[in-house]
Amino acid sequence: MSSSDERRDQAENSSPSGVSRRNFLKGTGVAGVAGVALTIPLSPEAEAKAGGTFGVPVIGPEKTKITLTINGAARAVEVEPRVTLLDAMRNDLDITGAKRVCDRGTCGACSVLMDGKLVYACSILAIDAQGSKIETVESLSSNGTLHPVQQAFVDHDAQQCGFCTPGFVMACKSLLDHHPNPTAEDIQMGLGGNLCRCGTYVGIKAAVAQAATEMKKTRTKGGKRNG
Ligand code: FES
Ligand code: FES
Repeated sequence: MSSSDERRDQAENSSPSGVSRRNFLKGTGVAGVAGVALTIPLSPEAEAKAGGTFGVPVIGPEKTKITLTINGAARAVEVEPRVTLLDAMRNDLDITGAKRVCDRGTCGACSVLMDGKLVYACSILAIDAQGSKIETVESLSSNGTLHPVQQAFVDHDAQQCGFCTPGFVMACKSLLDHHPNPTAEDIQMGLGGNLCRCGTYVGIKAAVAQAATEMKKTRTKGGKRNG
């Protein structure tokens, strides 16, 4: 299974409300079918059993008040249930580090950590992100000091247009958190769900190597590291 497949599965399976983006769309389809089906007389028992939506939980379509925990802060926001975590952050909370590029779980520009796992924020409904700890690229630097991964991207000029960069930085951080001494295969798996249309892969590879060394030094010293 590829890295991007894993992240899409994460979006599908880590749904506290049981309504993933795909399930929501499916549910909308079922509700549409139900709208047609209601013209066909149902027995009272069948109708009660169907609950009007054939058991699919319906939230909205009007805005719902939710609270998201992003970069350590609880953020209240009102969004329609169809809104993704990415759009809630960018459009309603002014957290714009994660980028909206493909909006369909293929490029990785929107990558964030959700309870420590790398996910595509465009493939998770905001309502499903409630109760989870979300970390975006904005959380990495502190007091003007860049995270070693960010610094390594600067040092190795690992970006051109920069649209993919926040996603790659989060993917690299996740990779090195889980694999302090990454093998070539670890790197391929860890970054395989992110695409750079400008082709800065050589710089990114060098940045991963530098960041791994720097993060190891900090761990050895027992020092405090950003992020
Ligand atoms: S914008 Fe989310 S994967 Fe491309
Ligand atoms: S730097 Fe332009 S897409 Fe990666």
